[in-house]
Order: sequence, then structure tokens, then C-alpha cells
Amino acid sequence: MKNKHLVSISDFSKEEYIKILDSAEDFEKQPVQDIATGKVVATLFFEPSTRTRLSFESAANRMGAKVIGFSDASSSSTSKGESLADTIKTVCCYADLIVMRHPLEGAARLAGEVSSVPIINAGDGANQHPTQCMLDLYSIRKTQNTLDNLHIALVGDLKYGRTVHSLVEAMCNFNATFHLISPESLKLPGAVKMHIKEKGLNYYQYTEIQEAIDKVDILYMTRVQRERFLDIQDYERVKNAYILEQSMLKNSKPNLKVLHPLPRVNEINTNVDNTRQAYYFQQAQNGVYVRQALIAAILGLK
Ligand code: CP
Repeated sequence: MKNKHLVSISDFSKEEYIKILDSAEDFEKQPVQDIATGKVVATLFFEPSTRTRLSFESAANRMGAKVIGFSDASSSSTSKGESLADTIKTVCCYADLIVMRHPLEGAARLAGEVSSVPIINAGDGANQHPTQCMLDLYSIRKTQNTLDNLHIALVGDLKYGRTVHSLVEAMCNFNATFHLISPESLKLPGAVKMHIKEKGLNYYQYTEIQEAIDKVDILYMTRVQRERFLDIQDYERVKNAYILEQSMLKNSKPNLKVLHPLPRVNEINTNVDNTRQAYYFQQAQNGVYVRQALIAAILGLK
């Protein structure tokens, strides 16, 4: 994994996922490991973020690395018309690793093509969010004691939800069965469904959470991605399509965990937060350990 870009979840093999998850377990036991002293990590966020940026920065700090970057594109020279390629070529002169979020699909791939240091995609438009996927895998393995043969319900914006696209691709390596719950207009894209079919796995599509909730081990809720809609009226029609309530969990499997990449808007009522099924804030915490493991692997420190 040393010096590899992480642009899409398929850039890493199943064996590499497992290595990262095992390393993250080690970081969870001992989060402060001064193994990146002298290294500089750049976080370039052209789109808003709380968890991804801050957990990467927390991860780097806990390993002794220094962090540079920006959280608002308007404070960078792209606002003066500089191209993304020139920005990346410049930041390569200042950092050993670049973590980048960008609103355009394919931006991380382009960055990888011009960069002399590894690029980690922290989300590119509606395309991929591979590091979120790694922490989702970590959270699933931790709560289910396995990644194999699980039933996963994915709920909400399956069209624009980049975390969903990455997670489906990754879980295809572990014989998952997918329960896809969305409004008609936000169904999982055909290319991602094709991935499931190519692996000979099954998926089922529903429009109501109740149709699947009692069958699954993981209920992966997502926010409707307002920022991806071209017509705000289309967003208004589906924004309240799913609201998970505590009462809806009463017949769920004993091992069910509710995950959400966050941020949430209203798709999980706060009355779910204190149930034994709720796991989304621990999931966000797991992001630090997984990102420590990724930084260590890609910089060749561990
Ligand atoms: N899950 C996630 O990507 O959250 P942020 O947008 O806050 O980084």
C-alpha cells in the first residue's frame, strides 16, 4: 500500500482492507503512536466536512505529523482561477500526503494523475468515499464479529450517496445480500447494481424501511444529498422519504446495528440515539483509528 493513491475503494484488494482494519484495531488500543514525526499531511477540502477532515487531522496529530491545508476553497487560489492540476502540483512541494474532497466526480483521479505524492480521496461528488467505506467496514466487523454473509439494508439516497456506492463495492467481496430502500427517483445506479450482479450476489429493492428491517444485520441510513440536486423541487419531494423511529426497531434482529455516515438531517429521529442498535457516533469515532491506519500504510510507516 506504500505510496498508493486511494481514489476508489476498488484501488485496494480484499486482503489490503483486512490489513487496514487489523491495523486500525491496533490504533484503537493505542491511539497515540509517534510514528509520523516529520511528515506533513495536506487536507484540501473544496467541499464542507466535519468528520472526514477533522478525523484525518486528529489521526495525523496523534501520529506526530503536521497538518496543512484549507477547509474552504474560497481561501485557496482556485478562487483566482488556478486549475486543480496546478494546485495539486504545488501542494506536492509542501506535503508527503494529500487528502482531498472535491465536488466533482473524477477530481481525485485527476489529482492522482498529476501528483507526485499519494492522494487520498475524501469524497468526490456523488462518486466515491473510500475512507468512509473503510471505517464502515471496521464498524461492521466490530459489531458483527465478521464481514462475511451479512444482510445489509441501505436506506435513502442511493443515487447520489457516495458512501453507499463505495460500501456496496466493498461488501461484494464478502458475500453480502443487499436490501436497497429508496424512493424511485433515488435508486442505486445501474453501474453499482451491475457490480453486485457480476459477483453473483443478490439485491432486493423496496420503497419502505419496514419491508426489510427485520431481515437485516446492518441498517445503513443516509441523508438525501440536497447539494447534488439540479432542481430543488425534486429534493423537496423526497427529503422526508425516510425517518427512522425507535418504535420501528422493535422486531429487529438482536445483532442489528444502525449505521449512518453522518451528517444526518432528520432521517434518524433522536429517539433512536440511546437505543442499543444506534452505532453512528461510535462509527464516526472509528474514523480516527481507520484513518491513522491508512496514513501509516500509505506513508509506509507500518
Ligand atoms: N461522513 C462524512 O463524510 O462526513 P463529513 O461530510 O462531515 O466529512
